[in-house]
Amino acid sequence: MTAVKKTFAVVAGDGIGPEVIRAAVSVLRQCARAFGHRFEFVDLPFGGAAIDRCADPLPAETLDACRKADAVLLGAVGGAKWDSQPLARRPEAGLLRLRKELGLYINVRPVKLLEPLRSMCPVRLRENESVDMEIIRELAGGIYFGERRSGGSGAEEFAADTEFYSVKEIERVAQYSFRRAAARRKRLAGIDKANVLASSRLWRKTVERLARDFPEVKLESIYVDNAALQLVLRPAQFDVILTSNMFGDILSDEAAALAGSIGLIPSMSLGNGSALYEPIHGSAPQLAGKDSADPIGAILCAAMLLRESCGLEREAAAVEAAVEGVLYAGFRTPDIAESGSRTVGCSEMAAQISSALAEHAVEAETYGWGV
Ligand code: NAD
Ligand code: IPM
Ligand code: MN
Repeated sequence: MTAVKKTFAVVAGDGIGPEVIRAAVSVLRQCARAFGHRFEFVDLPFGGAAIDRCADPLPAETLDACRKADAVLLGAVGGAKWDSQPLARRPEAGLLRLRKELGLYINVRPVKLLEPLRSMCPVRLRENESVDMEIIRELAGGIYFGERRSGGSGAEEFAADTEFYSVKEIERVAQYSFRRAAARRKRLAGIDKANVLASSRLWRKTVERLARDFPEVKLESIYVDNAALQLVLRPAQFDVILTSNMFGDILSDEAAALAGSIGLIPSMSLGNGSALYEPIHGSAPQLAGKDSADPIGAILCAAMLLRESCGLEREAAAVEAAVEGVLYAGFRTPDIAESGSRTVGCSEMAAQISSALAEHAVEAETYGWGV
């Protein structure tokens, strides 16, 4: 077993961010102990908490430490306290700036219905079908970063956001998506609004041209309104989804419901700089401080981080197996509780997953890895 030494920047943020990140870090610490690695964690101010401290949601020291880290683990930002701030000074602006500064243009959001949660899927599934898709969301462009204008007054006051995409921006995320689909079930759904938007026409034209370089992948272009419908009618038809920043944000929350709860879904963001891992949910202010948030999305971020940023496939699979084992054993946070299950809080769920991970590591060492 080769020991690995890594340093992770931890930006927990606001609301339930610190609770779910504490859970993910405890699982990573257990992983380091069980498998003989050395992980160091650097906690950094971010989001509303950083605004309160130094009037900046992304202080320079935080950005600098994220740049230097082997990977970044992020909770969530935002809350009512900062909602009246101008857009550029809100916690969310710090998150967008962090993604931009790290050059992260790919965001992968895997939506998988775990077998023990099958009855939590709100959509009727055929017996031999499940939900197992990856939504790849463009993360550095589109309407999030296009030109903004506002002016006028009274009834003439106006505001405009611009959806801008260049071929280069579309190609780099599309190429990654084709490769990702080629390694899975070889189906790619390109989702756009090419019947109305010029930016979507360029998007579709570029993606369909690239498809010729990936003959093994079957590309289907779908309008976003129909895609929203198909997601709930027959989610099993989707393998990899490629879409823009805005559509990806919306469709991934919709798709999350298919897995049982938005609290279960992790994500990873890739590009030129350090990779960033964050659950797709927000700061869920109404749950904050109650120890009842679901930490599984954040814990599955830890698994993705082990796999993608550390090359630790066996450890990543062990974390995923621990999550599934604990769900099979009936432990549930309130968002996924059902009759007969044992409702636990965020910290107890993390403790159960950590001990399942430790047991798994002991068994694997005794009986051999890779079984
Ligand atoms: P949200 O994702 O915080 O909550 C949506 C719903 O999902 C709520 O009912 C919430 O209780 C539930 N939920 C979310 N995470 C959960 C978890 N781990 N366990 C159980 N239930 C969970 O979205 P919102 O309410 O629209 O936004 C709240 C704040 O979060 C806003 O300020 C928003 O801007 C911010 N936000 C931040 C991020 C981020 O930091 N990445 C993402 C989305 C929203
Ligand atoms: C997400 C969030 C963010 C986004 C917000 C908070 C800026 O909704 O990560 O899904 O829109 O990207
Ligand atoms: Mn979102």
